[in-house]
Amino acid sequence: MKFKKRTHTCGQLREENIGQLVVLNGWVAIRRDLGGVIFIEMRDRHGITQVVFEPSYNNESYEKAKKLRNEFVISIEGKVRKRPEGTENPALPTGQIDVMVDKLIILNYAETPPFALENNVEASEDLRLKYRYLDLRRSEMQKNLLLRHKMYLLTRKYFDENGFVEVETPVLMKSTPEGARDFLVPSRIHKGKFYALPQSPQTYKQLLMIAGLDRYFQIVKCFRDEDLRADRQPEFTQIDVEMSFADVEDIFEIVEGLMKIFFKEILNVDLNTPLPRLSFEEAMEKYGSDKPDLRFGLEMTTLNDLFANSQFRVFKDAVSNNEIITSLLAKGCGDYTRNQLDVLTDFAKKLGAGGLIWMRVKENELDAPIAKFLTDEEKKNIIAKMKAEAGDLIFILSGKQLKTLSIMGSLRLEMAKRMNLFSADAPPSLLWVTDFPLFEWDEETKRFYAMHHPFTSPRIEDILFMESNPAKVKARAYDLVLNGNEIAGGSIRIHDSDLQAKMFRALGISDEEAKEKFGFLIGAFKYGAPPHGGIAFGFDRLAMLFAGKTSIRDVIAFPKTSSGLSLMDNSPSLVDEAQLTELHIRIK
Ligand code: AMO
Repeated sequence: MKFKKRTHTCGQLREENIGQLVVLNGWVAIRRDLGGVIFIEMRDRHGITQVVFEPSYNNESYEKAKKLRNEFVISIEGKVRKRPEGTENPALPTGQIDVMVDKLIILNYAETPPFALENNVEASEDLRLKYRYLDLRRSEMQKNLLLRHKMYLLTRKYFDENGFVEVETPVLMKSTPEGARDFLVPSRIHKGKFYALPQSPQTYKQLLMIAGLDRYFQIVKCFRDEDLRADRQPEFTQIDVEMSFADVEDIFEIVEGLMKIFFKEILNVDLNTPLPRLSFEEAMEKYGSDKPDLRFGLEMTTLNDLFANSQFRVFKDAVSNNEIITSLLAKGCGDYTRNQLDVLTDFAKKLGAGGLIWMRVKENELDAPIAKFLTDEEKKNIIAKMKAEAGDLIFILSGKQLKTLSIMGSLRLEMAKRMNLFSADAPPSLLWVTDFPLFEWDEETKRFYAMHHPFTSPRIEDILFMESNPAKVKARAYDLVLNGNEIAGGSIRIHDSDLQAKMFRALGISDEEAKEKFGFLIGAFKYGAPPHGGIAFGFDRLAMLFAGKTSIRDVIAFPKTSSGLSLMDNSPSLVDEAQLTELHIRIK
């Protein structure tokens, strides 16, 4: 069908265009037939313009306009006029004008959409995902994709200006351990063998350092078969970074530079650097999380030193077993009812706590089920140490360190919600968490795992404990945390094949297994590997936070559901028997 190309977008016309003849192409967003006049709000990515069909102005196009329905694709030709007084729409950038239509061409018809394409959409997310191409017509969603686009540009410009080279790494590769399950791709040519999709380009970026690329970055898709949540997708995007001859400070400086640009260019906020830093230990002890949200205080307090000689067995045993007694002060919550406290106790129990101790603070007294087990001195000490006052509420948990701290950390976030401590205009909280443990003990398999990944360097001064006391060894690893979300993680790497071998031994990986899985990398370390380190940002999480959203699905064009489905094309799906045979696969 022949149609005139647009002279302007649907977001472009202003008062200075009044009197001009223009052509617009777009969709019918809203149609109002006032019996005698038809108003159409025409939409494209750039905005909305009202166009008007009046029989006295042009009867032919008016008659044709009667057929228009929402989401028809049209081209109009007409004259820009000032809207009649009192009908201006200050909410629209084009709201001072409209276009009197001389000619209408219907470029395509549309069925009635399954949901209204408005910004405060009421449709379920599943319906929106099934018809994602319609959902993406909404300006709210387009804004998110445009933000991503801007972030790609800012990223590429920044790294280019700082001497980084973007290199693509394979998507069909050998499996790299990043802690999640791999997605596997069967080989047709090599019967019984599989490629893995990269959980991250970790090994490749290290090989690029050995190859002398010096400074690498890549905006790259990663794939992890893990349980999904609001901030996790099976395929997601990283800004992956690696630097040679760099130490922690160099990496922090590069990362902070990029964050400064994002804050300025997206939020118009001047970010102060260097960013604050918290050690993993301190973050866990004060906030019960390795990604603490510091937009509000509500710090936890460790009470171990009050109970070393207590008569109260639970606390005394906790101290002597090197466990933790941690507490949280909820200011002014002393009037919580028994019912509210039961709900919070259940909350803690669901996370694995044996129970939750609570105490209402009264004048010189603690009103609590466990009060009778405590001496007056102990009660006084609790009040003093926590700086509690009458009318406050105290929570206490005791048990194994990391687990107990993290349960209290979840309660901290829950209480922050209940106490309305999340303020929309609180300044963003961006910080580094450093000095992670190198190893993580797994109770189930009774062995140590790498907390980050097996290529992470221990702190030099801790190397001597790698065999004798692995739990004590700290890694040269760091995470970047924004408003309680882990948005990036990285480390200085091991670049010495002997130390790498030692690391594999500590992880219970035999020499053969290490050779089979990582032989290529260990081999490469023998040919002059420079000291190196890096980091990777979760790009989707960054985009989500800068867009002010709470789910990364909102900033991904075609995301999967929380059960890993693509509702639009129904993947994963069955495949032909012939395809399976070719791949030497039989479904049991
Ligand atoms: P890590 O595993 O910490 O490090 O990943 C880096 C960042 O990627 C984001 N992320 C995710 N985002 C969405 N969905 C997921 N399933 C998902 N998993 C992780 C997080 C995280 O901080 N190779 C190392 C980096 C390095 O050491 O340089 C790595 O991948 O924001």
